[in-house]
Amino acid sequence: MLQQESFQSRLRHCVQQVGTQKDFLEKTEISRSQLFRYLEGESLPTVDKVLKFAEASNTNISWLISGEGSPCKTDPSSLSFSYDLITTVIQLVEETLMEYTGPALTPAQKAMLMPMVHAEMELEKAVGLSENKFTKGHMHKIFDYIWSIKKSNLIDTYYEMSKRVLLHAKDLTQSEDVSVQVNNFISTAEQASIDYFSLPSSQAYYKRTEHGITEYNRHLLFKIMESVFCNIKSPKIKMLDVGCGSGKYMEYMHANYADRIEVLGVEPSELAFEKCKQKEKQGGIPTGSVFRKDASHLPFEKNSIEFAFSRNVLHWIPYVKEANTGTNKVFAEVARVLKPGGAFYFDAREGTHREFLPFNQMYSKQDVYDLAKTHGFKVLWIHTEDEPYFNDLIENKEEYHSRFKNAIRAFLIKA
Ligand SMILES: C[S@@+](CC[C@H](N)C(=O)[O-])C[C@H]1O[C@@H](n2cnc3c(N)ncnc32)[C@H](O)[C@@H]1O
Repeated sequence: MLQQESFQSRLRHCVQQVGTQKDFLEKTEISRSQLFRYLEGESLPTVDKVLKFAEASNTNISWLISGEGSPCKTDPSSLSFSYDLITTVIQLVEETLMEYTGPALTPAQKAMLMPMVHAEMELEKAVGLSENKFTKGHMHKIFDYIWSIKKSNLIDTYYEMSKRVLLHAKDLTQSEDVSVQVNNFISTAEQASIDYFSLPSSQAYYKRTEHGITEYNRHLLFKIMESVFCNIKSPKIKMLDVGCGSGKYMEYMHANYADRIEVLGVEPSELAFEKCKQKEKQGGIPTGSVFRKDASHLPFEKNSIEFAFSRNVLHWIPYVKEANTGTNKVFAEVARVLKPGGAFYFDAREGTHREFLPFNQMYSKQDVYDLAKTHGFKVLWIHTEDEPYFNDLIENKEEYHSRFKNAIRAFLIKA
């Protein structure tokens, strides 16, 4: 039985999850007056409508009906609240704040810091870096991140901007103030991500991921290269790895496809770039093939590359549909350097929201279609990792943190 009083607030939650009332009405195919009647408690929806509401807002249906349990569809164990964990977070934050030499943090900044540390602790635990024990050493990573953010008061800007973006404000770029704020946010977040990958603490990431290509990735590369060879007929293909990290994919491609593929890479992080240079010295990749540049500044001529490839990079770059910096600039750059008919494969974390823990931009299919359209690409294929296209890979799927369950993978062709 529906419990009328609290059902109204649960329904309001569903609307907020979708974004705007307009989006909610479109997705659930009900009229505005119907929605108001439900929200005002004047009538109750039928079961098929409740099902639609739950689906549209990605909400747990039994919670929507009964109010019991959690609104999230996520595995409840990943949401369990740990008193010990939160105590450790507070302790660590307090201790580190005592050493913090910058200006006093506002309550809003502290409020941002807590979930950031908490999420980072969970993440570190999930990838097995800290054997369930997050130490003060790890705090430096987060504080480095916060310091780089604080440089331009990013948190305030972030609040302001995400409010507007989430409300789908049409005039995002019309007000000069807001567009300055947005661009400020994008460039600071972009730089903070690059800095993040240059921190000594990122050594652990490169160490963890550097040793060769996993079975899963070998299969994935095979699928990607099938699409490349079907669509690009030139005998020699220049492949540009955008954000190539330690250069492991370049090395693999060079070892296995050197007859057709010439590898090139850009990588802005000093730490990762040095690893690429070592690979060059050891002959794993050709000398001079990696450039210390970021994805918004590709050091190549117009129409000079046949295939651009970018794995796990775009979620470190902010995407604001209306801004021509961030992901839009990356796409513009890739479109510029690609030859007509050239291909662009990329993947990133899938979702419809922005994670700030530390910065992660999620991409939906709609985002990818929008980006492709804006920058003159046609989408050859696009899949999230849980779709049948990847069924044969799933056995070898690497463990993700529950927060980042799914990836989006797309293969585009420059028109
Ligand atoms: C998760 S790692 C992935 C590295 C590599 N693509 C791989 O899959 O092994 C993310 C990489 O993106 C790089 N990165 C971050 N911001 C970038 C930007 N604006 N342009 C290009 N690369 C960026 C980081 O330095 C880091 O090496």
